[in-house]
Amino acid sequence: RRTYSHLRRPDSERPSFGIAFDIDGVILRGRTPIGGSPQALRRLYDADGFLKVPFLFLTNGGGVPETKRALELSELLKVQISALQVVQGHSPFRRLVSRFENELIVAIGKGEPAAVMLEYGFKKVLSIDDYASYFNDIDPLSQYKSWGLKQSYERNYNSEGLQPKYDVYSERVKGAFVVSDPVDWGRDIQVLCDILRCGGLPGKENGHQPPLFFAADDLEYQAVFPSERLGMGAFRIALESIYNSINSRPLEYTSFGKPNPFVFKNAESILTKLVTNMCQVKETMKGEKCGLDTIYMIGDNPKVDINGANKVGHPWFSILTRTGVFRDKNNHEQYPADLVVDTVEEAIDFILKKEC
Ligand code: G3P
Ligand code: MG
Repeated sequence: RRTYSHLRRPDSERPSFGIAFDIDGVILRGRTPIGGSPQALRRLYDADGFLKVPFLFLTNGGGVPETKRALELSELLKVQISALQVVQGHSPFRRLVSRFENELIVAIGKGEPAAVMLEYGFKKVLSIDDYASYFNDIDPLSQYKSWGLKQSYERNYNSEGLQPKYDVYSERVKGAFVVSDPVDWGRDIQVLCDILRCGGLPGKENGHQPPLFFAADDLEYQAVFPSERLGMGAFRIALESIYNSINSRPLEYTSFGKPNPFVFKNAESILTKLVTNMCQVKETMKGEKCGLDTIYMIGDNPKVDINGANKVGHPWFSILTRTGVFRDKNNHEQYPADLVVDTVEEAIDFILKKEC
């Protein structure tokens, strides 16, 4: 059941359009579907559950491997979704595997950041929780935190005392990856400053700053609370501002995620793969082009979703919903969408009327 079988109907025609859905503020708020998203998505499948319209989720969020997120989304939205259809902010990190494959790296953020990186093929990964637990007193405020580091301590201590998985006291951290929204900003900023200032060995001699990667740069996003919440971009500003105040060389980093054009180009090539899966195999072998004439980006964040799709241009067509970050009556002034609608359901109505 959890295979790609729903992607291919043997006699299906080549689809001419595809859809990329933002998740937070369009499809879900927290874990609750919004804007009629389950009904809207169901219209993209035929009566037997085969995909009629190639679509994927293009989110700046994350924190769990794509395989797990696909299962979660399938359950919440009551349609079958494969891992190929889930592109998260951190998905492009997998392209960095060859550079860091056997190096010690630290993964930061909510959920299971280390599991994400291990699934991509990185071999020596520690979550920042585990990493911090090996250094006594690295967080002078930990005793005041009710949540503490209980789990990490339990995992890493046994009758013989502290058992680091790797020799963190002499092996340098070669890369830091902010996979998802950091949980304990104070501790994470402190430990990241330690790692980055000292060339990967907290409390030891100086060295060059190891590379730092952010999965996305969203300043704010729509979660369950009525007004927007601070996102990874806000954390980046806090870290950068503090780091640059205590260090003579400015922080160096790379941010992934929307609105970077390569994210949209990558989504385009995944949708093309989906089309190849859905096309008659014979047609594909004859060399028929499986490219799409139009790809709809349905998002709630003008600066991120709409700006990104507009920057790439053809074949992207941007649709802005009023269920998340954007709520205005008129189009956004700085990043106007090709179409503004109330909900994702209304967006699907428009697309299917236009295309079918
Ligand atoms: O943390 C999630 C947030 O950055 C945005 O997610 O789905 O709106 O791109 P999304
Ligand atoms: Mg969003």
